[in-house]
Amino acid sequence: MLRKNTEVVDFLLNRRSRPAKTLVGPAPTQDELRVLLTAAARTPDHGKLEPWRFMVFEEKSLKRLVDLTNKRGKQLNKPPEKLLKTLTALQTGATMVAVVFSPRESIKIPEVEQILSAGAVCLSLLNVALASGWGANWLTDWIATERVFLKQGLGLTDKEFVAGYIHIGTESIIPPERPRPNIEKITTWVDS
Ligand SMILES: Cc1cc2nc3c(=O)[nH]c(=O)nc-3n(C[C@H](O)[C@H](O)[C@H](O)COP(=O)(O)O)c2cc1C
Repeated sequence: MLRKNTEVVDFLLNRRSRPAKTLVGPAPTQDELRVLLTAAARTPDHGKLEPWRFMVFEEKSLKRLVDLTNKRGKQLNKPPEKLLKTLTALQTGATMVAVVFSPRESIKIPEVEQILSAGAVCLSLLNVALASGWGANWLTDWIATERVFLKQGLGLTDKEFVAGYIHIGTESIIPPERPRPNIEKITTWVDS
């Protein structure tokens, strides 16, 4: 039977990402990550298609992605300060989980619903990481969608992309609160 879980509600009312560039090690162990991934995969998924999967990047594979990001970023003429920002997020001591969107053929479930499910997985992974005491951040940047990077770096097929790179590590600072939506402004109480 459902009961009010005050701690969870309180967490959701106050949750706040920790910017990737402020993360440090240690990162979760693989056993700790398995728990986070299990919670994240427990996400609404119309038609049970599982149109998403995880790729975990730790120290060694992150180093490979750093080299590729540098090379590909220069080929694409990314401005140096933007490229540095992308590279910095990959070199913090945090682990990075790519939530890969993998569309499934379906006559019943449109692709947009599959993408929404992948986004929901990203938020679940972010939230369970934060709720477990890890600093975490959901980023995309050009490395989430650039075809050559995705093929060479992650081995994705042409139909796949990264719905989110979830960086998970140890927080070094607590960021200030940012403005939050005005609920009255964005809510219509439909009464007829
Ligand atoms: C799909 C998606 C992609 C994002 N990509 C980036 C990004 O590439 N770079 C960035 O600085 N922030 C990005 N953000 C925003 C960060 O996650 C940001 O830290 C977040 O807005 C903090 O929200 P919170 O305070 O509610 O946790 C992205 C957010 C979403 C939902």
